[in-house]
Amino acid sequence: MLKGQKTRIRPIEEDDIDTLYLWYNDQEVNLWSSGAWPLNTLQSKDQLAVKFLDGSPDTYRYAILDENDLLIGTLGFKEVNIPGRSATLYIVIGNKEYWGKGYGTDALITLIRFLFTQWNFHRISLDTWDENIRATKAYEKVGFKIEGRQREARFVLGNYHDAILMGLLRDEFLSLHGK
Ligand SMILES: CC(C)(COP(=O)(O)OP(=O)(O)OC[C@H]1O[C@@H](n2cnc3c(N)ncnc32)[C@H](O)[C@@H]1OP(=O)(O)O)[C@@H](O)C(=O)NCCC(=O)NCCS
Repeated sequence: MLKGQKTRIRPIEEDDIDTLYLWYNDQEVNLWSSGAWPLNTLQSKDQLAVKFLDGSPDTYRYAILDENDLLIGTLGFKEVNIPGRSATLYIVIGNKEYWGKGYGTDALITLIRFLFTQWNFHRISLDTWDENIRATKAYEKVGFKIEGRQREARFVLGNYHDAILMGLLRDEFLSLHGK
């Protein structure tokens, strides 16, 4: 269990799948997380169990809990590059009541501190899309910098949007948030 100021992070358990299923079939959650609803929402509980519990060798997924140990979201990393000591991060606060209250930022800081100090990563990447200002702001509070944009790379509800590419280096993070 990793402990932040407002959140805790633990492995995903079998009992979490029912809640994940609700989130994965929620239009608004999917709109912001992937900009792709309804393309990726026909996910049965069995598929989610395979995705989250069996995992893949290169994807690490964790549960985010609030101060009372309520499951409020998931986050994780993939595309681990061993020589470059880097990975790509994702986060979804699935419980919408928790948006905009600092939980996502706290969970990111908590996991990223672990990745830089325990996994010895040098760099973390992530991406979002141009209208997801809440995500961009949260990532900037963690220390991520915008490194580029892919023009009209996302198609959301009938319109093309730019993908926003962001990155964070270990030294930048540690000077902002400490070990
Ligand atoms: C993106 C996400 C992880 C951010 O976590 P969070 O706990 O909501 O973020 P925080 O509250 O720490 O920070 C959000 C910031 O955006 C601001 N904000 C919130 N809602 C906003 C809105 N609708 N428009 C603009 N800014 C907004 C907040 O004020 C806050 O900034 P501040 O601390 O300077 O006031 C979370 O909202 C989430 O999971 N959203 C749905 C899925 C998603 O978008 N995932 C990311 C895909 S790339």
